[in-house]
Amino acid sequence: MFASLRLGAVLFFTFISQASAQGSLTNVTVDDASPSVRYLNGWSPGPSLYIQLDTSKLFNGTWHDTTHYTQDITTKEMHVNFTGVAVYLYAVIANQPSGKPFDAFADYKFLLDDVVVGEYRHEVEDTTDFFYNVPIYVNTTLPDKEHRFSVLIDSTEKPVLMLFDYLVYTTTQ
Ligand SMILES: *[C@@H]1O[C@H](CO)[C@@H](O)[C@H](O)[C@H]1NC(C)=O
Ligand SMILES: *[C@@H]1O[C@H](CO)[C@@H](O)[C@H](O)[C@H]1NC(C)=O
Ligand SMILES: *[C@@H]1O[C@H](CO)[C@@H](O)[C@H](O)[C@H]1NC(C)=O
Ligand SMILES: *[C@@H]1O[C@H](CO)[C@@H](O)[C@H](O)[C@H]1NC(C)=O
Repeated sequence: MFASLRLGAVLFFTFISQASAQGSLTNVTVDDASPSVRYLNGWSPGPSLYIQLDTSKLFNGTWHDTTHYTQDITTKEMHVNFTGVAVYLYAVIANQPSGKPFDAFADYKFLLDDVVVGEYRHEVEDTTDFFYNVPIYVNTTLPDKEHRFSVLIDSTEKPVLMLFDYLVYTTTQ
């Protein structure tokens, strides 16, 4: 009987310490319209002339878009600073088989604390559908500190379109 009480106590304290080691993880969503997103070199809130999205499928109904042309001198950039252990970036991916009336190729570079950590590419598919809520960059192994997250678009291969919807980060607070 004492043995099982002791086992129960051990299990109980194991449970408590695991719960506190994980802290309480909380997701924070940063909408594209949030003032904590910094856009550089030519982004605008949707809709644009050719791109009208289904706002019911977007986080809070909004998005930001940009097109980077191969001859552009400046890089299209967006930056978000956050403190946390994970980050998830969600975009809308466009398709446009003929390349008209807009370019829909995706090629984005991701940086954490100014170091390139990933890239997302998508060649247009044979459909005019938009793909919503696409997690284009996920990192769940960040050290728990302040991070500077950046997206850079600088392709010299062909024009790149980005439709940014929202970002989620996970805090231990
Ligand atoms: C945070 O959101 C991501 C996906 O958006 C999900 O996989 C993860 O489980 C969430 N974490 C918490 C603590 O809710
Ligand atoms: C993010 O932090 C960097 C310093 O690491 C700072 O230079 C930059 O202005 C900050 N950006 C935003 C959007 O607050
Ligand atoms: C959603 O958009 C409304 C304005 O349309 C704004 O007041 C609100 O703060 C936004 N919510 C989030 C979570 O971004
Ligand atoms: C996540 O971020 C860390 C720290 O910046 C980096 O070393 C690692 O390569 C990243 N992982 C992914 C999947 O991008």
